[in-house]
Amino acid sequence: MPKVLLTGGAGFIGTHIAAALIERGFDPLIVDNFSNANPSVAMALGEVVGGAVEIHDVDCRDTEELVRLVELQGGVSGIIHLAAFKAVGESVRNPLKYYDNNLASMVSVLRVAERFPESAFVLSSSCTVYGQPETPFVTEETPLGNPHNPYGYTKQACERILSDFVAASENARGIILRYFNPIGAHPSGKIGEWPLGVPDNLVPYLTQTAVGIRDHLTVFGSDYDTPDGTCIRDFIHVCDLADAHIAALELALNAEAQTCEVFNIGTGRGHSVKELIDTFKNETGVDIDVRYGHRRAGDVSAIYANVDKAEKILGWKAERSLGDALRDAWNWQQTLSSKP
Ligand code: UD1
Repeated sequence: MPKVLLTGGAGFIGTHIAAALIERGFDPLIVDNFSNANPSVAMALGEVVGGAVEIHDVDCRDTEELVRLVELQGGVSGIIHLAAFKAVGESVRNPLKYYDNNLASMVSVLRVAERFPESAFVLSSSCTVYGQPETPFVTEETPLGNPHNPYGYTKQACERILSDFVAASENARGIILRYFNPIGAHPSGKIGEWPLGVPDNLVPYLTQTAVGIRDHLTVFGSDYDTPDGTCIRDFIHVCDLADAHIAALELALNAEAQTCEVFNIGTGRGHSVKELIDTFKNETGVDIDVRYGHRRAGDVSAIYANVDKAEKILGWKAERSLGDALRDAWNWQQTLSSKP
């Protein structure tokens, strides 16, 4: 079974990728420092895949520890690097926390790749690298925008660091995945997004409101230049996103040396915040108190993915609907709320 180092594997996206890797016959070596994840996810992941799953408590900035762990396992043929902080607002308040963690982890994990030069590298990036694009439907050729916050800047920098590394290494192959807005949860209801503290993102805030943890949901801005005045995003089911990583890994494993490809990973469709809330109400039958407030600083009005390149070259496309994602997110919220 090909061994794959998965960093940030205890988080929302990481747990779904871990499950997909195991289901497709890979053997993930999962690491996470649990700075934004709950250690009990290892047990839940084990239930999803029907076997024990170990998550190693390692900070990715600790290169020696990572190398030691990988060597103990006899090396890896692939690396999927997710470990990073991702809260936009926090990155503005505490930029050094973001530069230190996100950039130092990137360099450190590439040091591991350097020791295992045949390994294929898949990097988690974000549509935030486009900033506020001139037109909302972005291709991989759309020029990168001005990152409005340190988080966005770290994503642009990590992309650059990977492509410089690949160009300078004889055998390296890299793939950069620009995620749009990952939402939803595993259909088993056993793993999902587990925000520590008050959620920043729309869907966990919405499901927490629906379950009664929050008393209302504020929609940030209803005066955008969009059909209903609320922002438009490309919401992608986290299981579709996980599948995209398997396709990317397989492509990278078979790619020619020194290739570094970028892919948009979305559904190719934009939905407004209001549409998402209405879909949630229709799908679940749960009503929630929705209020319309001011715009949130740093939000772009509309962005969604052109996914032609992913379909053509990765042979991947999102299969699940917005309704599927919201039903799964709601199912997961109920599991989470019933935990002691
Ligand atoms: C942001 C980043 C994205 C990053 C993601 C991870 C930008 C432009 N986007 O996504 O790159 O990967 O965070 O955290 O930097 N909303 C409400 N009420 C709420 C919460 C959100 O109306 O309580 C609205 C927001 O204004 C936005 C939409 O919902 O229009 C989605 O917000 P969110 O889920 O936070 O994701 P992004 O900001 O799109």
